[in-house]
Amino acid sequence: MPVTTRQLIEWKQQGRAIVALTAWDYAIAGLLDDAGIDIILVGDSLAMVALGYENTLPVTLEEMLHHTAAVCRGTKRALVVCDLPFLSYQESIEVAIRSAGRALKEAGAQAVKVEGASPDILATIRKLTAIGIPVMGHVGLTPQSVYQLGYKQQGTTEEQGQQILRDAIAVAEVGAFSLILEHIPSELAAQITAQLPIPTIGIGAGVQCDGQVLVTADLLGLSKKQPPFAKTYLNLRQMATQAVGEFINEVREQKFPR
Ligand code: KIV
Repeated sequence: MPVTTRQLIEWKQQGRAIVALTAWDYAIAGLLDDAGIDIILVGDSLAMVALGYENTLPVTLEEMLHHTAAVCRGTKRALVVCDLPFLSYQESIEVAIRSAGRALKEAGAQAVKVEGASPDILATIRKLTAIGIPVMGHVGLTPQSVYQLGYKQQGTTEEQGQQILRDAIAVAEVGAFSLILEHIPSELAAQITAQLPIPTIGIGAGVQCDGQVLVTADLLGLSKKQPPFAKTYLNLRQMATQAVGEFINEVREQKFPR
């Protein structure tokens, strides 16, 4: 059965952990889906892991739609969420509706993700939700604000922590179906998780979130740089380099094809 946004909220109520990973193409999506992942996020981190940019800012809506469509073709069960890239939703509610609408209509995503909790973003989440577009929120470290926040942990003072808690509550109140908590202290994430009716999905936010997400390139050991909270389960870069090296040698020594 395909995963729905309603199902995610039920899993929070049942205490069943939600598992999410990012994907950027058909092959990775199929692999994650076959393994039983609940949510596939076509994160704008694909700007770095698939397109070679320094940060998430340069990736365009067209590029996100292209990759999201490929991910959707490779996914049967997981809920596919398309991350709306920088400046594809901040300008106005009308622009956000067009971008989010394209993610669903053209690319086939079932939901979109937006960063932040400013009054404008809250109004956008409320409107998108009202017209039937499910929205995942994202607070704490928000990489689209890298030039203001850097990549450092957020919510480390009492005042900042209280602000993130208020932001999280506001995002849930305007209708988001789930919320990414990125790089905040685990006690703060636990407090937010306990107060919210919607599932929190943590990345660098401790074990007490309702679910966890990682960038798949970090998990597989494909990333050149990765955040301190990522865990590498496999060194695929090293294994693949070795396999390619063997192929090069076999061709040069005329052992392939044989
Ligand atoms: O773009 C991304 O990969 C994200 C993370 C929270 C997983 O937004």
